[in-house]
Amino acid sequence: MTILVTGGAGFIGSNFVIDWLAGHDEALVNLDALTYAGNLANLDGLRGDPRHRFVHGDIRDRALVERLLGEHRPRAVLHFAAESHVDRSIHGPEAFFDTNVTGTLRLLEAVTGYWRALEEAERNAFCFLHVSTDEVFGTLGPEDAAFTETNRYLPNSPYAASKAASDHLARAWHHTYGLPVVTTNCSNNYGPYQFPEKLIPLCIHRALAGEPLPVYGDGLQVRDWLYVSDHCAAIRTVLAAARIGETWNIGGHNELTNLEVVHTLCALLDELRPRADGLPYACQITHVRDRPGHDRRYAIDASKLARELGWSPAETFASGIRRTVAWYLAHEVWVRDVTSGAYREWLGRHYA
Ligand code: NAD
Ligand code: TYD
Repeated sequence: MTILVTGGAGFIGSNFVIDWLAGHDEALVNLDALTYAGNLANLDGLRGDPRHRFVHGDIRDRALVERLLGEHRPRAVLHFAAESHVDRSIHGPEAFFDTNVTGTLRLLEAVTGYWRALEEAERNAFCFLHVSTDEVFGTLGPEDAAFTETNRYLPNSPYAASKAASDHLARAWHHTYGLPVVTTNCSNNYGPYQFPEKLIPLCIHRALAGEPLPVYGDGLQVRDWLYVSDHCAAIRTVLAAARIGETWNIGGHNELTNLEVVHTLCALLDELRPRADGLPYACQITHVRDRPGHDRRYAIDASKLARELGWSPAETFASGIRRTVAWYLAHEVWVRDVTSGAYREWLGRHYA
C-alpha cells in the first residue's frame, strides 16, 4: 500500500514524511514543487530508502498528478502543499490563490477521476485528507471560547482566505462528487525544519546573529502553539479513523502571547548559548510596526479529537520549545543554507 503526500519537503510535510516512515513500512510518494519553503535537505535521512519516492512537481499540473495516481495507486492523498506565510500573502496574495485555491482544485479534480475508477473495495477505503489551519476561523476576543469545528469561517488575511477557499473546495468535492474527504484545522506549529520567516525560527536565527528580534505591535497577540510531531500524530490518527466528511480541530492547549514566546526563546538561548558580552538576548527585542489586519488571538478547542479518537499532544510548550531551540543550535548548517539569497531579499523588503 502507498500514500501520496503533497508538500512533503516543507516544514510540516517533511516532519510528517519522516515520522510516517519511522513508524510504517507503507511507501510514500512525495510531490513537492520545491518553492523557497521546500527543502530536500529535510529528507536527507531518507536518501536511498525505497519507501520514499520524491517527485519534483506542481499540484497544479493535473497531467502529472494523474500519472502519479495511476502509477502508484495510493490508498490516500494527504494534502499539505500550500503557500503558508501570512506576511508574504499580504505582500503578494496572488501566489496564495494560485497554489492554495487553483492547486487544490486541480488536485481534487485529478484525485476524483482516479478515485471513481477504483475497484469498489479500494474506492470505499480511499481518503483525501486536507490539511488546513485555525486561521480560517478569524480572530477571538480575550474572553471568547476557543474555536470548535462548527465555528463560522471568518478569514482575515489573504492567506487565511485562500485556505478557507480550499477547505470549501474539499467540502464541496465531498458533497457534490462523493469524494471521501476529511479536513483538519490546526493551530500554529513549531519544531525542526521550520523556515526562518516564521516567528520562532526567525527569532532564534536573529538572536544568534545579534540582530533585532522584531515583535509586531504590542506583542500581546495570542497563538496556540503545537509541537510539529504532535500535529503529525494527530493527522495519522484522523487518517486511521477515516470518518469521511468530518472536520477535526488540532491544537496544543498552549495559548501564549508573542512576547511570552520570544522571552522564552531568549531565556533558553541565555542558558544554552549565552551571548559573548554576557547580556541577555532579551535586550535584542524590538517592537516594530504591526502586521495589517493582525488577528489578535487564536485558540483551538481540540476536545472532539481527544474525546472521539483519543489523541492528545505529547509535548508541553516547555518541552517542545527546548527541543526546538536545541535542534536549531545543532543544525546551523541547515539554517545557513536556507537563509541565503532569496531569504535576505525578503527580510530587506519586509522589515525595511
Ligand atoms: P511550508 O510553507 O513550510 O511548506 C509548503 C510546502 O508546499 C513546500 O515544501 C513547498 O515547496 C510546497 N508547495 C508550495 N506550492 C506548491 C505547489 N504548487 N505544488 C507542490 N508543492 C508546493 O508550509 P507548512 O508550514 O509546512 O504547512 C503545511 C500545511 O499545513 C499548509 O497547508 C498549511 O496551510 C498548513 N498548516 C500550517 C500550520 C503552521 O503553523 N505552519 C498550521 C496549521 C496548518
Ligand atoms: P507567524 O509565525 O508568521 O504565524 P501566523 O501569522 O500564521 O500566526 O507569526 C506568529 C505570530 O508572531 C503572529 O502573531 C505574528 C507575530 N510575528 C511577529 O511579532 N514578528 C515577526 O517577525 C513575525 C514573523 C511574526
